[in-house]
Amino acid sequence: MDKFIIEGQTPLKGKIAISGSKNAALPLMAASLLADGDVQLNNIPLLQDIYTFINVIKETGCQVTFFEDKRSLVFNASSVNKLEAPYDLVRKMRASFYMLGALVGRFGYAKVSLPGGCAWGPRPVNLHVEALKALGIEITMDKGYVIAKAPKTGIPGGEFTFNPRSVGATVNAVLAAVLANGKTVLHNVAQEPDVVQLCTALVKMGASIEGIGNSTLVINGVTALKGTSLDNAPDRIETGTYMLAAIMHPESEITITHSDPDDLGHFIEQFKQTGATISVSGTDIYVKAPKKINPVSIITDVYPGFPTDLQAQWATAMTLADGKSVITDTIYTDRFSYVPELNRLGASLEIAQNSVHVLGNSQLSGASIMSTDLRASVSLVLAAMVAEGNSEVLRIYHLDRGYEFLEKKLNTIGAKIKRVKE
Ligand code: EPZ
Repeated sequence: MDKFIIEGQTPLKGKIAISGSKNAALPLMAASLLADGDVQLNNIPLLQDIYTFINVIKETGCQVTFFEDKRSLVFNASSVNKLEAPYDLVRKMRASFYMLGALVGRFGYAKVSLPGGCAWGPRPVNLHVEALKALGIEITMDKGYVIAKAPKTGIPGGEFTFNPRSVGATVNAVLAAVLANGKTVLHNVAQEPDVVQLCTALVKMGASIEGIGNSTLVINGVTALKGTSLDNAPDRIETGTYMLAAIMHPESEITITHSDPDDLGHFIEQFKQTGATISVSGTDIYVKAPKKINPVSIITDVYPGFPTDLQAQWATAMTLADGKSVITDTIYTDRFSYVPELNRLGASLEIAQNSVHVLGNSQLSGASIMSTDLRASVSLVLAAMVAEGNSEVLRIYHLDRGYEFLEKKLNTIGAKIKRVKE
C-alpha cells in the first residue's frame, strides 16, 4: 500500500486545475446503459472509482472505451447480455448500486449486490428499494443481492417521497422511471448538482423530466433514449478541498481554475467568514489566506447547504483558527474517523454525538497518520502540509479513489509530497 511522505510548512502559490467530478460522472455512466446509441462522456477524471465502475458496466456486456488522454468515455449498450452487478465489484464502490435503476429501467430486470460497508455508516439503501417498489417494480432479496423485476407490460411508474433526501436513491429512481410505461412523481428529491446534471443529460437523450433543480420531479416515461455527447461537471468537492488548503498557511495565495463555483452552494459564503480573500471570475477562484483564520462553526446539510464531503476538510482548517468552533454533520452522524489522526498531529478535537468540537490555535507537528476514507485522508494531507517537520500518511489508496493527481497538483504549487510505493 502506497504512502505519502510530506514535508510540512509549505505555503501554496500558483494555479491549480480542477478535474472532472467523480460523483457527477458515476450517475452519467449508469445512464449510458439506457441509450440506444453511443453515449460519450467528456471531462471524466482518471480515478480508481471510475475504473471500478467501468468494470461493473463491462460485466453486463456493454461496450466501454476510455480515451484517457482525452478524458472521454464512450458507451454502447447494444451488446448488453447480463443484467447483473456482482458482489466482488459492487463491494469496491457503493455507487455501483446505480446499476439497479439502470438495468431494470432499460431491460426490466436487475440482480445487483447490496453495497458493502464503508468507513462510517450505516449507509442503508432502503430508500432505493422503496422508491423502485413505488414505481411498480417487484423487489426480492436473495443471498445479499437485490433482484428487481418489471411487470411484463413494463414499469407502470408511480409516486414516492424521499425521507430523508438521498442522492443515490434519487439517481436510482430517475434511472428506473425515464423509460417507464407511465408517469412518475418524485417528491423531496436530492438537488445536488450531480442529480441536476443527470436529469439534464437524460432530457438531452430524449427523456421527459419536469422540475429539474426543484424538490419535485415529474417524469413521463418515453419508449427510447438516444445516444449523445455530454460534458461532465468539474469536481466541487475537489474545489472546496483546495480552497481550504489555501487558507491553512498564512502566505498561501492560489488561483483554482476549471471550477464551477455555483456548484458549492452556501459553502462560498461560509468560506468568506474565515477571513480569506476570495474572488470569483468565471471558472477561476482566487484565494489568499488570512493572517489568522476566523473560527467558523458549520452544520452540514443537503444541497445547497454545506456539503458533508467537505466536513473533514473544514474541521482540519479550523484546528488552526483563532478560537473554538463546532462542526456538526447532519447527513452522516459518525463521519469523524479523521479526528484521532489529527490529534496525533497535535490538534485538539473532541467528538460529541454528531459534532466535533475544535479548540483552534493548534501547533501541528509531523507524525505517522492513517487514512480511513476518501475525505478523511485528504484532510490528513492538508494538515501534514502545514505541520512542522515530516509526516507520513498511510493507506493513500483511499485518495486515489477521488482526487486525480493530488500530489502532482499540490507539488506544482509548493507542496512537498513524495509518494512511496510499499
Ligand atoms: C452520495 O452518497 C455521495 N456519493 C457521497 O459522497 C455523499 O457524501 C452523499 O451523497 C451525501 O451528499 C456519490 O455521489 C457516489 P445519500 P449517497 O443517499 O448517495 C441516508 C464521497 O466522499 N439514506 O444522499 O450514498 C444516508 O444514510 C461520497 O464522494 C437512507 O437513510 O448518499 C444519509 O444519512 C461519500 N436510506 C443520507 O440519506 C437510503 O436508502 C444521505 O445519503 C439512502 C440514504
